[in-house]
Amino acid sequence: MSRCWTSASLLLQCRRIHTVAPCLKNKTGAEHRWLERHFNDPYVKKSKKQNYRCRSAFKLLEIDEKHSILHPGLHAIDCGTAPGAWAQVVVEKVNATGADPAAPVGFVLGVDLLQISPLEGAVFLPHANIADPDTQKRIQELLPKGKVDIILSDMAPNATGIRELDHQKLISLCFALLDLAPHILHPGGTMLCKFWDGKDSHLLQKKLKQDFREVRTIKPQACRKESAEVYYLARSYKTKHTT
Ligand SMILES: C[S@@+](CC[C@H](N)C(=O)[O-])C[C@H]1O[C@@H](n2cnc3c(N)ncnc32)[C@H](O)[C@@H]1O
Repeated sequence: MSRCWTSASLLLQCRRIHTVAPCLKNKTGAEHRWLERHFNDPYVKKSKKQNYRCRSAFKLLEIDEKHSILHPGLHAIDCGTAPGAWAQVVVEKVNATGADPAAPVGFVLGVDLLQISPLEGAVFLPHANIADPDTQKRIQELLPKGKVDIILSDMAPNATGIRELDHQKLISLCFALLDLAPHILHPGGTMLCKFWDGKDSHLLQKKLKQDFREVRTIKPQACRKESAEVYYLARSYKTKHTT
């Protein structure tokens, strides 16, 4: 049970109880260890203080601080957006609410298999599988300019615990996004996608290098050390002709 979302029900039980100690009662050893690590995690504490929906906000903030991928006025799609911490960061950085009247106003579309609580400045497409052609059609309809400047993906399929299988499932999702890119990404655009490292990572990297002029591998400090989670940041999307 290492992924933030698969542990949501555990956390919900704890929030109902309000304190950690009684919450640890009647838990299995693995649940106990996960909850203890979660409540002691400095990024979890920071996310509560700064009102982010999830600790993953700090991964995107860190990537943006180092690589400047988000600017006011950008149009962005956030794939695997629930519970919405990345969307919170993106809304602010692209000025999607128009909070800064002197800066251009951006746009944020978040897509997820799950329900997502509303967020001012973001349009959400819940209960939607990114790999489904109907979702892809709906995305194109929802984009004000038909295309975006940046595709973000923090998607994570439900983990089976079988590392190689989970790796392949996530790599397939990234490939599904690359198939969608010609239809929704402006030439010159950026793609940031999470993957779990494994034997097929190089295939994804190879395809990204064909489609983008610059590809980097990034492991933010906010990623848990024991996690296989890594990101590819691909910039300068090459012109693609769609039929
Ligand atoms: C780690 S969470 C994302 C956390 C998010 N970046 C945040 O900051 O709140 C991964 C999300 O990917 C979503 N997901 C997994 N497979 C998906 C798919 N095929 N289409 C859309 N979303 C998917 C899951 O439902 C889950 O909410």
